Formats: sequence, structure tokens, C-alpha cells
Amino acid sequence: MAKPPSDTRFAVPAALKSHGPARIIAMCNQKGGVGKTTTTINVAAALAEYGRKVLLVDFDPQGALSAGLGINTGDLPTVYDLMMNKDMKTRDAIITTKVPNIDLLPANIDLSAAELRLVSEMGREKILKGILKQVSDDYDLIMIDCQPSLGLLTVNALTAAHGVMIPLACEFFALRGVALLIETVDKVREHLNETLQVDGILATMYDPRTLHSREVLDRLHEVFGEKVFRSVIGRTVKFPDATVAGLPITSFAPTSIAAESYRTVARELVARGNCA
Ligand SMILES: Nc1ncnc2c1ncn2[C@@H]1O[C@H](COP(=O)(O)OP(=O)(O)O)[C@@H](O)[C@H]1O
Ligand SMILES: [Mg+2]
Repeated sequence: MAKPPSDTRFAVPAALKSHGPARIIAMCNQKGGVGKTTTTINVAAALAEYGRKVLLVDFDPQGALSAGLGINTGDLPTVYDLMMNKDMKTRDAIITTKVPNIDLLPANIDLSAAELRLVSEMGREKILKGILKQVSDDYDLIMIDCQPSLGLLTVNALTAAHGVMIPLACEFFALRGVALLIETVDKVREHLNETLQVDGILATMYDPRTLHSREVLDRLHEVFGEKVFRSVIGRTVKFPDATVAGLPITSFAPTSIAAESYRTVARELVARGNCA
């Protein structure tokens, strides 16, 4: 894989003397297959290498984040159980992963029933916020891997979050739908979460051999300016391979360009003040 035009100058973050309270980031794009789950796992893994304590929240009924960390949800309690049972404690559903410093709140297909079951619930947009509040002091960062839709689950994630990160694949029609996503973020800010901010837009699956990738990246900078992360993630089969292995790229191929590119995103997040 050729190196993407990534800016790698961001400093390695200083060690933390204590942990928490967490900054919460929602990984959102209503388009599927743009790298939400891959970015969630790998930014978390890179920040974990830098000593940050991270909680990952699988908030997609497909459960790809849980699977990507090698977790079989089987009979485990999930985030869905927490949403449906107010007496349950968040800690009772959190599990450790084989990656040091990363814990997981898993999900599986059960979560697909949540939107319907919560339709008439009071405060239905704030349920995840309440769930995460219980454990927020234990972590430096909580990342929520959203499903590809702008429905009630995603609104819950945006209501719980301090910032939203938007991965965008460098391909045709990448920008389609982003306006609607930003509109949703604006609405949530107006009605539910005054301080919600767009942390940034991350270009993924960049292929330096195509003019097209370059054009998409230029267009992103034109439209979103400083909101675009200077780090760029290249397209490589290493990511699907790591997923099959149930490992972050930083463990699966620690010295690869792919791993280094997510370490760069992690350093940029800290440099931008979007994580301790
Ligand atoms: N930079 C990349 N290069 C190549 N394949 C990638 C890259 N990032 C993700 N993938 C693969 O693309 C597919 C979709 O990525 P995923 O992170 O699951 O997207 P989303 O969560 O937005 O649906 C997965 O098979 C993943 O392994
Ligand atoms: Mg996903």
C-alpha cells in the first residue's frame, strides 16, 4: 500500500496521571461501509497504546464492533438489556477485551428491537446518556459505534456525546447524505444536547493511485475546511484481515502503515483537544 497524504506531525500524547471523566465521541455516518466500526476499534486501540482507558459501545444491532474485538455476545448482557431494564447497572454489562485498556459494552441483533420498543417512552432520546453516566469517571474516552441510520439509536448516541466524528470513504457520492447528518447534529444540539460539536471528518479508504480519491479529498477540504482531519486512512486489505482475526490493526499488524495511520488519527484527536 502506498502512503496516503497523511500529516503525521502530531505529538505523541503525554502520559495521564489519572483517569476520567471520559469525553464521549459518537462515530456516525448513516451510510454503511464507510469505516465507522474500523475507525472506532483502531482509534481506540491506538489511544489505549498511549495509556488512555477506553470504553467502546457497540450501538449497531449488527454487532460488528463486538465481533471485530473477537467477542461472541452469546448469552452476555448487552447494551439493549441496559436500555430495557432501568434497574440493571452499566458495569454488569461491560466486559474486558483482550486489548489492554479497552472495555466493551457489547450489542447483538436484539438491539434492532429497541427503536420500536422505545417509541412511546418518556425521555427516550436520553437513555444511553444515563447508561454511560454511571461509568464515565472510569474512562478517558468513550466511543459509540453507531448504526448506519439517523434513527432513535443514533439520536441517543448524539445526545450522550460531547463530539461526533464522521468517517467518509473516498469514493463517488461520499458527500451524499452528509448534509442530512449535519442537520441531524444541529437538531440534536438545539433540542437535546446544547454543547454537541462536530469533532471532525475523517477520510477513509483513500487510494493514492486514483485521481478520484484525490478529488474527493480536495472536495472535502473545500466544503468542510478545518473540520477535516489532516490524517487520512488508506485503503488496504489489512483491515478486513484484522477484522477476521478479531483484533485491532495495531495488534494484528503493529508496524504496518495502516496501524500507523490510526495512531496518527489518535494523536490528532488529542492535539485537537477532542480527547485527554
Ligand atoms: N481503510 C480501509 N481499507 C480497506 N477496507 C476497509 C478500510 N476500512 C474498513 N474497511 C473494510 O470495509 C468494510 C466496512 O468497514 P466498516 O468499518 O465495517 O464500516 P461501517 O462500520 O461504516 O459500516 C469492512 O469489511 C472493513 O474491514
Ligand atoms: Mg459498522
